[in-house]
Amino acid sequence: MQVLFLSPAYPPEMIEYTRGLAEVGARVLGVGDTPAHALPEKVRPYLSDYLQVPSIMNEGDLIARVKQWLGGRHVDRIEAQWEILVLTAARLREQLGVAGMSYNTVLGFRDKQLMKERVERAGLRVPYAFRASTEKDVIDAAHLIGFPIIIKPIAGAGSADTYRIQNDEELHRVLPALRHVPEVSVEEFVDGEEFTFDTVCIDGEPVYMNVAQYLPRPLIARTNEWISPVIVTVSDLNQPKIRAGIELGKGVLKALGMGTGFTHMEWYYKPNGEVVFGEIGCRPGGAHLVDQMNYTSDIDLFREWARAVCHKHFSAPTRRLYNAAIIFKRAQGEGTIRAIHGLDAYKQRFGQWICTEQLLPIGAHRRNWKQTLVSDGFLIVRHPRWEDALHMADIAATDIQMYASR
Ligand SMILES: Nc1ncnc2c1ncn2[C@@H]1O[C@H](COP(=O)(O)OP(=O)(O)O)[C@@H](O)[C@H]1O
Ligand SMILES: [Mg+2]
Repeated sequence: MQVLFLSPAYPPEMIEYTRGLAEVGARVLGVGDTPAHALPEKVRPYLSDYLQVPSIMNEGDLIARVKQWLGGRHVDRIEAQWEILVLTAARLREQLGVAGMSYNTVLGFRDKQLMKERVERAGLRVPYAFRASTEKDVIDAAHLIGFPIIIKPIAGAGSADTYRIQNDEELHRVLPALRHVPEVSVEEFVDGEEFTFDTVCIDGEPVYMNVAQYLPRPLIARTNEWISPVIVTVSDLNQPKIRAGIELGKGVLKALGMGTGFTHMEWYYKPNGEVVFGEIGCRPGGAHLVDQMNYTSDIDLFREWARAVCHKHFSAPTRRLYNAAIIFKRAQGEGTIRAIHGLDAYKQRFGQWICTEQLLPIGAHRRNWKQTLVSDGFLIVRHPRWEDALHMADIAATDIQMYASR
């Protein structure tokens, strides 16, 4: 089994997928823009061969170089786990005649408008929305939908340039800030709780499923620096509201023609019990969500994903033992981390439930919280009881404080 894997060392969690592929017996042919000599030690043992390309983002150039590099060599799979490369992988599969999801299918997981159209056509609930590329179109759409609305880029990520708008006055204030965005989606604001639906699929059938809740909703977490965003996996998937979300999610996978691999979907649960589709990708969630799933079930999804891809088999238990919560911390002040308060007391109190603590150490420079969800580091804690997991997350959010100064 030869697997061509795009960007095997960046972002860093790609090293884990590379390991997974090697562990299930694949020879991994890596393609990335990291120079071969700069590849991390950790990934080297798992790579059978490596091609460095000038830019991983230059699809045409990458494909030409890969073809030349492979020569007559046969590959069985071509995979990417990083959102910006899933279409490149599909293009390569088509050009090299390798089995897997087609370009058109992957596009349904990448183009947010097309995705919503396909999901809606299958009779599933999506937000009422319009595409707009001029200010007039935005204003017309806002009035058709009625406030409150959401305006966000068609090709957005990480809640960037996303606004909740309550009235005309706010709309006119926000319009100038959107001038650099070529095309936006103007949507009904769906009020409610926000969840993920994550799977590993084999030929479209989920062999592993996960649901996690965002606390608070991502848009709120991404606009208020003082908040410590929390994401908690839900161990009990058998509650009515979660079941409704899973049914929606399975419908979405069918509507979009999912093949084999990871999916990461977001959905809303409204107070009236309605579930609404948000968005989906045919790759895993970022920001350590796969680690959280692993801690939830005490399994190794990096390896099981690889087994699914290579051998169409999934061999880990799907039991859910814990609710695993990740708490992202943001230091107060700018510059260098000078102090961390409350961490020792927290470790003493909850030690046995802490899976990992990866806060930036004293002396490190703060990360830009707008650009990375991971912010100034994180903790993952877990507990068999939902309330206890939530309680521990809450205490970590309020009682652990990081301070920075220049
Ligand atoms: N129609 C909507 N109703 C309510 N909230 C929304 C809506 N669209 C987006 N949001 C909020 O903005 C966040 C980011 O939007 P999303 O569609 O997930 O794009 P991305 O995560 O790629 O930036 C969501 O997690 C949600 O909190
Ligand atoms: Mg999102």
